[in-house]
Amino acid sequence: MSSAVKISPSILSADFSKLGIEIFELEKAGADLIHIDVMDGHFVPNITIGPDVIKDLKKHTSLPFDVHLMISPVHKYIKNFAEAGADIITIHPESTDNLIETINEIKKFGKKAGVSLNPKTTIEKVLPVLSLIDLVLIMSVNPGFGGQKFIKETLEKVKLLRKEIDQKKLAVEIEIDGGINFDNAKIAKKAGVDILVSGTTIFKNNEGNIKKNIEILRNH
Ligand code: DX5
Ligand code: ZN
Repeated sequence: MSSAVKISPSILSADFSKLGIEIFELEKAGADLIHIDVMDGHFVPNITIGPDVIKDLKKHTSLPFDVHLMISPVHKYIKNFAEAGADIITIHPESTDNLIETINEIKKFGKKAGVSLNPKTTIEKVLPVLSLIDLVLIMSVNPGFGGQKFIKETLEKVKLLRKEIDQKKLAVEIEIDGGINFDNAKIAKKAGVDILVSGTTIFKNNEGNIKKNIEILRNH
């Protein structure tokens, strides 16, 4: 297990009219990555942003872009997101006909590949490709919206994956996404996550003091 947890703020809770400034502020506040939720109104019932926005945001930070694709079919868009500046590209197995081919497509562009598991999806979906990828994203809410309640049963998958990754000495990181707050962040870290995603907690707590909120998530 890595020593310090990384914090990947989700800009879904940011002010979309000033995303460049928001991202710059997140870097100053100590974020490790920028989590970008891409939604198509088809794979999930919400629509957000696409590759052109990501490309322009790239100018506002040197932090890696952790791009969470909730779009289907995803395969044909990997190139666009890779060229726009995504550093990690995470996909849901349900959004492609051939998971291995899509992972290879991400790798072809020299990007880190992530696979995301919805709350009801078991780890068996990711085990066969674990040695091919860089990250497993455990969804602790059903994807689509920020501000939902954390589903604590999903931590069981974190624990199982932690064991599997450590036993096999793989370099795969475990990220958790959805409903993370100051309390469950502690148990998620204990369960073995490497990266915490957080939108609402980082942007809305303590009158929006993002620096303080990142610090609490990381250290408490
Ligand atoms: C949900 C997204 C999450 C979400 C997290 O579909 O993948 O990244 O924005 O936001 P909070 O922390 O508010 O649950
Ligand atoms: Zn996300």
